[in-house]
This record gives sequence, C-alpha cells and structure tokens, in this order.
Amino acid sequence: MVEFVMEYLPVIIVAAIIGAFALAFIFAWIALRKHKEEGDDRERNVPDSVIIKRLAHYAIPHWKSFIGIFFIMLFSIIYDLLSPLLVGDIQNLIKDKFALEDLFLRVGIYAGILVVSLICTYLQAMILQKIGQKILSQIRLDVFTHIESLSHEQLNNIPVGKLVTRVTNDPNRISFMFTNILVTLIKNSMVIVGVLGAMLVLNYALTLMVLCFVPFVVLFTVIFRQFSRRVHRQVSNATTDINTYLSENLSGMKITQIFNQEGQKLDDFMARSQKLKKAKQNRMFVFGIFRPMVYMLFVGSQLCLFYFGAKGHIQNTEFLGQVIDSATVVSFYMFISRFFNPIQTLAEQFDMLQQSFAGAEKIFSILDLVPEVVDEPDAIELDEIKGEIEFKDVWFAYKPDEWVLKGVSFHISPKQTVAFVGSTGSGKTTILSLICRNYDIQKGQILIDGIDIKKIKIASLRKHFGQMLQDVFLFSGDIRSNIVLRKDDVTDEEVWQACKYVNADSFISKLEKGLDEPVRERGNNFSAGQRQLLSFARTILHKPSVMILDEATANIDTETEILIQDSLEKMKNIGTMLIVAHRLSTIQHADNIILLSHGQIIEQGNHQELLKLKGRYHQLYTLQFTKQQLQNS
Ligand SMILES: Nc1ncnc2c1ncn2[C@@H]1O[C@H](COP(=O)(O)OP(=O)(O)O)[C@@H](O)[C@H]1O
Ligand SMILES: [Mg+2]
Repeated sequence: MVEFVMEYLPVIIVAAIIGAFALAFIFAWIALRKHKEEGDDRERNVPDSVIIKRLAHYAIPHWKSFIGIFFIMLFSIIYDLLSPLLVGDIQNLIKDKFALEDLFLRVGIYAGILVVSLICTYLQAMILQKIGQKILSQIRLDVFTHIESLSHEQLNNIPVGKLVTRVTNDPNRISFMFTNILVTLIKNSMVIVGVLGAMLVLNYALTLMVLCFVPFVVLFTVIFRQFSRRVHRQVSNATTDINTYLSENLSGMKITQIFNQEGQKLDDFMARSQKLKKAKQNRMFVFGIFRPMVYMLFVGSQLCLFYFGAKGHIQNTEFLGQVIDSATVVSFYMFISRFFNPIQTLAEQFDMLQQSFAGAEKIFSILDLVPEVVDEPDAIELDEIKGEIEFKDVWFAYKPDEWVLKGVSFHISPKQTVAFVGSTGSGKTTILSLICRNYDIQKGQILIDGIDIKKIKIASLRKHFGQMLQDVFLFSGDIRSNIVLRKDDVTDEEVWQACKYVNADSFISKLEKGLDEPVRERGNNFSAGQRQLLSFARTILHKPSVMILDEATANIDTETEILIQDSLEKMKNIGTMLIVAHRLSTIQHADNIILLSHGQIIEQGNHQELLKLKGRYHQLYTLQFTKQQLQNS
C-alpha cells in the first residue's frame, strides 16, 4: 500500500487538488441555485430552436460563403493536428541519426503548413466580416423599418433608449454570432475530435490519462455557465438601464439645468453607473475563477503526462502493442494544449451563443409587435383629395374606458379654415392626430371626402396632410434638407418660392450660406420663430390638401407673428386648414370655430355667430380682449 502511494505520489497530489476544487465548486453551485435573484424574471422564454430557426433566415442568403468558409476552416485545422506530430518527429531525428537535410525538410514543412493555416485564417476572417456586416445591416434595417410602422401608442410604450439598444447593440451581438461564435464553435469541435483521433493513434494509454481530466472540465464548465449566465444578464440589464436613462436625460438636460437638478441627476446616474460597474466586476470575477481552474486542469494533465510518459519510457512499458518513446511525450505535450484550449473556449463560446440568442430574442420581441394601426386588406389608394373632413359621433380613449373624445361630430368643407378652441386637455390635439390616423378610434367614423379613413391606405392618407406643430422638429443637416425632407426632385427655385410664400426668405437670405446653412441637432441654432417659418416652408413645399397647425403660433414674438399671420392668410388658398391657437385673434377669420370642453363640442360657428351666442366663446373673447386692452394702455 505504502509502496503504491509512494510510486504514484505526484499523481495523487494532482488528483487531490483537483478533487478539492471540484467539491468546492459543487457546493458553491448548490448555494447559488437556492438563492434566487432579482431580475430573474427577465430571463429568456423563447426556446433556442425557435430562435435558431428565425436566425437561420438571415444566414441562408449567404450559404455559399458559409460552405466556402467551412472548407477554408478545414485547412486551418491541419496546422493544429500536424504540428505536434512534426515536432515529435524532429525529436526522433535528434535522438537517432541526425541529418541536417532531414531537419531542413521538416522545418520547411512546418513553415509551409503554418503559412497555409495563417492565410486560411485571414481569408476566413475577411469573408466572415463581410457576411457579418451584411447580416448586421439587414437586421438593423428590419428593426428600423418595423419601428417606423408602429403606432404612436406603441412607440410611447417603449423608452427611446431601449429602442436605440435594439437597433445598435443587439444586432451587433447577432452578427458577432455569425462571424465569430458559430465558426469558432465548429472549428473547436473539429479540433477536439481531430486531436483526440491523433492522440489515440499515438498512444492509447496516455490518451486515456488525458481523458480522465475531461469530466472535470465538463463539470467546471457546467457550473461556470450557471454563474456566467447570471452575470451576463446583470451586465446587459445594467447597460439597458444606463442607455435608457442617458437618452432621456441628455434630451432633457436643459430642463435639468434650469431646475438646478444637476446634483440629483448626477446621483441617479452614478447609482446606475455603479450598478454596471459592479455587474462587470462580477463578470470579471467569474471569468477570473474559471480560466485558472481550467488552466489548473491543463497543468495537472501535463504533470501526469510527464510522470506517466517518462516512467513508461524508462520502464519501456507496453500497452496494446504501443510503447512510449520521447517523441510521443513531446507530441502529447503539444496535443494537450491543443485539446484543452478549444474545450475551454467552447464553454465561453456557448455562453456567448446564449447571449446572442438573448439579443435575438429581444430583437424578435420588437419585430413581433404587431403594428396596431395597419392598412385593411381592401384599403384603397387615394391620389387626390378635395379636403372634406367629417367626424361622425367619434368616441376615443387612449386607455380603455377613459374617454378623451365623447361623441364628437363636425363637418368641414374643402378649403375651409376651421379653428379648434378649448382649454388644455380638452382634446384638440387628439382630434387632429385622429384625422391622420395616428390612432384608431373606438366608436364612430371619420370620413375624408366621404370615405372612411380606415378604408384608405395609411401612407396615401398621410401624404395629403401637412402638420405644423408647436414643437418643430428639425433634423441635423442643412436648411435645404430640412425643407425638402423626402422629395428628391426639388429645385432650389422651388425651395426659395416656398420660403418666400411663408416669409422665411428674408431670414434665410441673411444667413451666411443661405439654404446650405448647417442645422444643428433639433435645430437649436435657430429661434423658435425661425424654426416655425421653416416648418411652414416644409409644409408648403409638399402642397398638402389639408394643413394642420397645432399651437404653431404659440410662442412667437410679435414681429414674427405678423409674418406668420400673413403667410397663414396666403396658405388658406392652398387647401383645408385646421388650426389650434390660444390667441383668439389668430383665428377670428376662420370659417368655423369649434369650441371643445372635456372631449365634447359645446359651441360652433364663426366668430360673429359665436359672439352673438354670448356663451363660453364670448366669455373667452372678452377675457382676452380686456387683457389686451390693459396691456396696450
Ligand atoms: N398619448 C396619450 N396617452 C394617454 N393620454 C393622453 C395622450 N395624449 C393625450 N392624452 C390625454 O388626452 C386628453 C386630451 O389631450 P390633448 O388632445 O392633447 O389636449 P389638448 O391638445 O386640447 O390640450 C388629456 O387629458 C391628456 O391627458
Ligand atoms: Mg394640444
């Protein structure tokens, strides 16, 4: 007994150390399984097979390239398999009868396969990158197109930061899967099988010894995956959190500064940042433990190889007809690292695969959102409209049973100018956005030129509307691109004409670069009035049949207001005009004034008729009128 222990002492020590670690790992794992964590509810709930099927859809167009890559990969594996054998052969050469020519030959072959393998690896990387970029842009395009088709309500429900992550990060992960993970997975699996085969041919006994370590690698890997999945999820949740917070708060930075909330916001941000830091540290910790563990197994197996190999060589042990020579030991020494490396990365690759699947699931969850407002199958194309609008007992609620519009009915003839008046929250904006079918109504009917808007293709409906809102959105670019927007066959002359029509020409011609003047993000290098004039020009250029102005004249100085009043007068000739304005002076000349209160029409008629009624409008008017008199005096 003592003799046996003494003989195998080094091996027993190695086994004991590995066994101890394995036990510790198992206990840690059991502890983790008991301890359920917050955020677990965000776990994946679509089976891998479903995701793989949907992802394959993106890879199929590139199947020829993938097959090419497979063959290139076979070449690059040859190096992994042949080099240990060649080095072993050189060892034999040195031991037996040394001839310089033989050495040259072997070194030459070694260099040859190394070069071939490097070229193959390079080619593979290049082709993969190309495919990856194509797949990436395809996914991004799909997601973006889909987001464009969502209704306002659906968009309101998803934070912008989250959408940004869906269009940027998640597709990246999927493309990484195609370009890196999948190929490495396949390559590693083939290397493992190949190396195993080569080792078996060399020596059964030593291969068996190496295989003894495999169950431990598998055990460590399985446990590691449990930990790593958790830390990955923490990192990804924390990242989404921080993105969402950033995109919201960077847009609202001015408000933060005005209300002196920098400190508070900074604290909030710090908290999120700390959370991300901690999650990333945890991830490093988990990987920091796993890698040395597998390294320990690797070193352990090498120690055992030296012991058994040298012992077998010295004692000339024979096993199933194979003896161990020094070349075998050298080749095995190299094969072991070729064997453990892929096993270790295999585990990490599997994990990254899971991450990509999680990214894919998130993308698919966006792609699976069924657009709420869609064309009906028999919807018609509408090339021209006269601009007649009718609401027939329209009921509408954003949230179930909280009616915002309660039985609204009115009729607008083509080319009429109609104003909507009423206190904030009475439903003016809602009415205007229903006409463009940004939302679908629950009860009643909205007719354009006598046709129910649900029977008209949405795109063909919206192209007849020009909306001018209080909050003008300018894109970064230049003045021309902001006026022209989507039309591409517009001459400068037409643009200038539109600008002149709305009195925007005078300020544009004073700009250093005229139409080419750069517009910064959201147009913050222009005043509110200038932005408003640009948005008018934008609308006029597209010659809409119905123009919608929602408090477009609210925060504008008197000088610009005169310009705007003037252009409004001219715009009346273009088509039907719907105006919401708080200043009653702006709408006095409207053909019809509709007074709303709590989602119902309480009065309607023209200015004179409403004044005669001596109702709510009369009240509002006298109030504003006296206020103005007071200001003037
Ligand atoms: N996207 C929305 N989701 C839920 N409720 C909304 C939404 N937009 C407006 N509302 C509610 O609908 C009512 C009418 O709003 P709105 O039409 O914007 O009023 P107005 O333009 O007359 O000031 C308000 O009570 C408002 O709170
Ligand atoms: Mg409004």
